[in-house]
Amino acid sequence: MSRLIQRSLRQDPPRALRGEGIYIHDSNGRTIIDGSGGAAVACLGHGHPRVLEAMRVQQEQLCYAHTSLYSCESAEALADLVLEGEPGGLTHMYLCSSGSEAMEAALKLARQYFVEVGQPQRSRFIARRQSYHGNTLGALAAGGNAMRRALYQPLLSDAFSHVSACYAYRERAENESDADYVARLVAELEAEFLRLGPHNVAAFIAEPVVGATLGCVTALPGYFPAMRAVCARHGALLILDEVMCGMGRTGTMHAWEQEDVTPDIEVIAKGLGGGYQPIGGILIAGKVVAALRDGSGAFMHGHTYQAHPVASAAALAVQRVIREEGLLANVLAMGALLEQRLVERLGNHRHVGDIRGRGLFRCAEFVTDRATKVPFDPALKLNDRIKQAAYERGLACYAMAGTLDGRRGDHVLLAPPYIATAAEIEAIVARFGDAVDDALAGLPD
Ligand SMILES: Cc1ncc(COP(=O)(O)O)c(C=O)c1O
Repeated sequence: MSRLIQRSLRQDPPRALRGEGIYIHDSNGRTIIDGSGGAAVACLGHGHPRVLEAMRVQQEQLCYAHTSLYSCESAEALADLVLEGEPGGLTHMYLCSSGSEAMEAALKLARQYFVEVGQPQRSRFIARRQSYHGNTLGALAAGGNAMRRALYQPLLSDAFSHVSACYAYRERAENESDADYVARLVAELEAEFLRLGPHNVAAFIAEPVVGATLGCVTALPGYFPAMRAVCARHGALLILDEVMCGMGRTGTMHAWEQEDVTPDIEVIAKGLGGGYQPIGGILIAGKVVAALRDGSGAFMHGHTYQAHPVASAAALAVQRVIREEGLLANVLAMGALLEQRLVERLGNHRHVGDIRGRGLFRCAEFVTDRATKVPFDPALKLNDRIKQAAYERGLACYAMAGTLDGRRGDHVLLAPPYIATAAEIEAIVARFGDAVDDALAGLPD
């Protein structure tokens, strides 16, 4: 058995030996289509020559210098590129090594902001149920993923509380209009502000497209502007977690561009560096930066590897490729094809309740019965069976349990790289559709 602890302590996974484009070659001699880029990470696929070359050049120049003394060219250039044109009023960037670290930075920055502007009582955060914001203790406390929180509950801060997500497929009442459902969610947020004392709330936190926990769930039109208005009325910040759905995954560089809303702090990671190096970050609105600059003059936070030169060089190359090769257009075109083919193949499947998502970020949710939407018995581990069946057919996908409440429900995500071709999308859907049939056929009677 392996001495390396990754996930299971009972089973060793195959080893990923080599990657090229959309494919991974494993230690069992299999060539697998990486249909989800891991967890929606590998946005340029594997082994992109421009990214490898940029990393090589940076490595030869300098691998590391501490940020207490130095900045570095690659991190500066990355910030300039990502913030070009100050999208949505975001003017500054802080760089770290993962999505969880980035979420921690967002929480601390929001807290520090209110101390600097003379509102130190603002220390509460409102997030949403069925969300995921990372696995470090602050990010885990922010998240609403019941399954991941349960074991660590005694360690989680009570500075966080949760309201409902916007999950129309299951949570909009039968005779409720979209507008009434949104109004109900807005009222719930308003009530939570009032319960906590509106002047005690630092920020509302949400994923514009809910990633792993709910499976590519988009909000209804009008939801985000209305939630933003509640925050604005009470003077709280809006933190949007785009770790999974951001940096082009949904067809626009920022998922919030399709929601008619802008954040005060945007959290990014996966698509920033595409998995070539561990990197995450936050993008920060000018007013937040100004408060710190005019106040204490420094962000009271830091990590040894923040703004790492090689990680920044890799992310810079990834971001240049996305822009220079016009890949957002491909995300939109291939995303539309992926949706169309999924609907054709599985749209009438009696155990596929919902096919949803945006861009190259798509998901199917599975049910025993489409009319009642009753989920499968969690003991059957249907999502895992589909993942295994897909792997048998040469497709890697991202499967999750607990769609409804952290325990019940199964969904499987597809998140191909932005470079995917139409033929590759067809192959992904063909293998996925067959895997769904295999897994369901294999269920005990
Ligand atoms: C929306 C969201 N936020 C935060 C994180 C945490 O990122 P990481 O796993 O890089 O720490 C994730 C990871 O899946 C995520 O999907």
